[in-house]
Amino acid sequence: MAANVYVQTPLTEYQIYIKNSYDELAFAIQTTNLCGYTAVIITDEIVDRLYTFSIRELLLRIFTNVYAAVIPAGETNKNHETLIALYHKLQEFHADRQTVIFALGGGVVGDVAGFCASTYMRGIPYVQLPTTLLACVDSSVGGKTGVDLGNSKNIIGAFYQPQFVYINTSAIQSLPPEQFSAGMGEVIKTALIRDAELYEYIRDNREAIRNREETPLSTVIARTCRIKAKIVTADEKETGVRAILNFGHTFGHSLESLSGFGISHGHSVMHGCRAAMYLSKLLGYDIKDHYLSDLTELLEFFGLSRLSSEYPPDLLYDKMFEDKKTKNGELNFVLITDIGFAQIYKNPTKKAVFDAIQYMMDYR
Ligand SMILES: NC(=O)c1ccc[n+]([C@@H]2O[C@H](COP(=O)([O-])OP(=O)(O)OC[C@H]3O[C@@H](n4cnc5c(N)ncnc54)[C@H](O)[C@@H]3O)[C@@H](O)[C@H]2O)c1
Repeated sequence: MAANVYVQTPLTEYQIYIKNSYDELAFAIQTTNLCGYTAVIITDEIVDRLYTFSIRELLLRIFTNVYAAVIPAGETNKNHETLIALYHKLQEFHADRQTVIFALGGGVVGDVAGFCASTYMRGIPYVQLPTTLLACVDSSVGGKTGVDLGNSKNIIGAFYQPQFVYINTSAIQSLPPEQFSAGMGEVIKTALIRDAELYEYIRDNREAIRNREETPLSTVIARTCRIKAKIVTADEKETGVRAILNFGHTFGHSLESLSGFGISHGHSVMHGCRAAMYLSKLLGYDIKDHYLSDLTELLEFFGLSRLSSEYPPDLLYDKMFEDKKTKNGELNFVLITDIGFAQIYKNPTKKAVFDAIQYMMDYR
């Protein structure tokens, strides 16, 4: 089993446990001195049916009261209504400042539960128990929490670090193929910006990874987490290097948003990675022709499907300005100079961005 990963920020530090069962969860809680009176599992209706019972049993060894607050599944519920309903639940459970929230689920649960924890009574402790591949390698690590407002993604939120993250890689086995595929998008994105060896490993072990064999699966999870943890440790609040994690996201977010979240976050990022690699080539970086075809083939192998609707390039372009990464009306893009190396490119020409959008949209 992969070694644990460690995150350190200016105000806190925490472990990311990478295990293949929940057997050591109680140990992790005790090690973190989280032995309070009340625990609240926040989860969604799908994950609730799969894992709440066993997690509750485990938590009852440590906490006197263990409650579950179940939210509806899906991105369209990552909003303030869900948040308010959770605050009411916490009040109903008499949650206090020692209460610990366990965010059990994918990125939607993690983001909403984390933001709920950051604001309830001005902040109570929470733990991330990610159950999607995307949440394991990305959203559970680094303390970004929040909700959407209308079609604007993550526009209300806070940086609020968990007490620890506990990944049970076997939970990935129950994930539907399209969710697994979306998670692989973030894994591949991370390899593209920081780890050429991981990119090769994914290409060489694609069958075994797609079959979710334990060793390659935990290898890619651990390696991707390690990169994310290192970047967050260097730049918690995204004032510098953390921005490179947004490779593919400026294109991806506008597609996700324009599709009314019909295209998932993970798949939007996959489309966005193609566009961002294309833009990197257009702007003169040494991106070989086969890099684009290799990437498209790899993403397809992991389930990327062609776009079924046409989204007008000018609307996609305009949407980009709603992104949080936009500064003073200028679009900044994360581009790659080669596989494994990323940098920020400020304010490329409108034509280059349009061409990259068109490249993304031509994948139909
Ligand atoms: N905070 C961050 O740094 C960060 C980073 C990346 C993405 N995100 C956010 O993450 C969200 C996407 O997360 P996601 O892709 O995990 O989606 P999700 O949370 O919507 O989960 C996808 C689906 O899988 C189901 N599911 C979860 N675990 C399961 C399991 N083990 N078995 C079977 N079904 C399971 C869920 O019920 C849901 O229906 C987006 O809102 C995105 O903005 C946040």
